[in-house]
Amino acid sequence: MSELIQINDISLERHRPGPERSQRVDYRAMAQAVPAVGVGKRYWIRTYGCQMNEHDSEIMAGMLQEMGYRPASAPEEADLILFNTCAVRENAEDKVFGEIGRIKPLKRRHPELLLGLCGCMAQEEKVRQFVRDTFPHVDLVFGTHNLHQLPELVVQAMASQETVFAVWDRPGQVVENLPKLRQDGVKAWVNIQYGCNKYCTYCIVPFTRGRERSRLPEDVVAEVKQLAEEGIREVTLLGQNVNDYGLDLGDVDFADLLQQVARIPGIERVRFTTSNPWNFTDKLIDVIAAEEAICEHIHLPVQSGNNRILKRMNRGYTRETYLQLVERIRDRIPGVSLTTDIIVGFPGETEEEFQDTLDLVRTVQFDNAFTFLYSRRQGTAAARMKDDTSLEAKKDRLRRLNELQAAISRRYHEQLVGKTEDVLVEGESKTNPEILAGRTRTNRLVLLQGSRELIGRTIPVQIVGAQTWLLRGAPRTAIREVTG
Ligand code: 5AD
Ligand code: SF4
Repeated sequence: MSELIQINDISLERHRPGPERSQRVDYRAMAQAVPAVGVGKRYWIRTYGCQMNEHDSEIMAGMLQEMGYRPASAPEEADLILFNTCAVRENAEDKVFGEIGRIKPLKRRHPELLLGLCGCMAQEEKVRQFVRDTFPHVDLVFGTHNLHQLPELVVQAMASQETVFAVWDRPGQVVENLPKLRQDGVKAWVNIQYGCNKYCTYCIVPFTRGRERSRLPEDVVAEVKQLAEEGIREVTLLGQNVNDYGLDLGDVDFADLLQQVARIPGIERVRFTTSNPWNFTDKLIDVIAAEEAICEHIHLPVQSGNNRILKRMNRGYTRETYLQLVERIRDRIPGVSLTTDIIVGFPGETEEEFQDTLDLVRTVQFDNAFTFLYSRRQGTAAARMKDDTSLEAKKDRLRRLNELQAAISRRYHEQLVGKTEDVLVEGESKTNPEILAGRTRTNRLVLLQGSRELIGRTIPVQIVGAQTWLLRGAPRTAIREVTG
């Protein structure tokens, strides 16, 4: 394995992308002798944040299992606890600090317990300093670019009295063939691209995840083919900014990749996230429209409906071009579902500017929206902007936006009652194992009664009930199976 463990504390420096392709390295070649130090031991991973983090946790679980570790059912039983963290908003960070504090008594009871902090927060110098000063009981801190070093870092942490820090401030390579312990037998996440170059002024991701690097299309396709052979029915292609896929490779773009993945036999559904409004090409829309396997659901974060705010956010599009894009998409992809992200209370946002956001939401009629109160992130450009709106006023804006969106989402669901939708049954419902949960192609959650044999199958389901965030369905009695 690589000897390189750099301890680097300049992670919040801006690093602009270079034109070079990222070097591609093979985990299997690096990790010839996986240390079997986990035999007889248990691990517990707590994940915060986006799907990228969820997938990173599957990779860490895969590496740990190869070291002999097995999953613990609760932190109290674990010999290794990892917090895979998110830095996008402050409240997520506060939660992590609270939990790390609460874990401290476990360390007293079980002195061999290893406690690690990784993910986006580890990339922030101020977080590392805070851990040094406040949480000496943390044994290991490693960054997003150091994920593949987990086995050797665990060995180091076992031998060290002091906290081991391993944080590269910029990505080294694209690491292929990482082990993964996927949590789901029906659907899987597949990374296609890491990092983001967009520097939206509120966002810390370009600092924590580094410049954009694309995986080679042949590596993505090989992984999806393997998943299809293992019985996976649905894949979600993951990137911070998937429309930019391939810019660093030169001869392939996201539309090409999506088309290739959609044609892999056995994969019934292909999703992708997150796409951005500024370079959503007609070619991409045409591929989504033409390929049967690509679901009619596009997550298209708008963030604000006001041009001055969009400009200050450095989003690269206007309200008008966003609305034109929505029209182009709806024209060519019938029945498409559109979801979005919106930030309320960006520095300097006035009530009138917020009204433009409400107006855009009324105009577009999103199927769903993830709404956030602006959170100041140190090191970003917006953190230096004047912010004189009170928290109460911002919370009130968020409340009004959520009310509006909930009414729209509910109306979409009510319109579906009585209709039949193809539902891929994913598993038991999270809250009631007697009930099955699945999704429509448009990514709506459907709860239904039925035998567990339906899991992994796409079946026609009649929608019999609608709530704001979920549908209730009944499998059609004469089951016409859509696929085997
Ligand atoms: N404050 C609030 N929301 C943010 N997001 C990103 N950065 C911030 C921030 N500083 C939101 C954006 C993005 C989503 C993943 O998180 O809406 O699309
Ligand atoms: Fe953040 Fe903007 Fe990149 Fe999305 S596109 S990760 S919001 S910088």
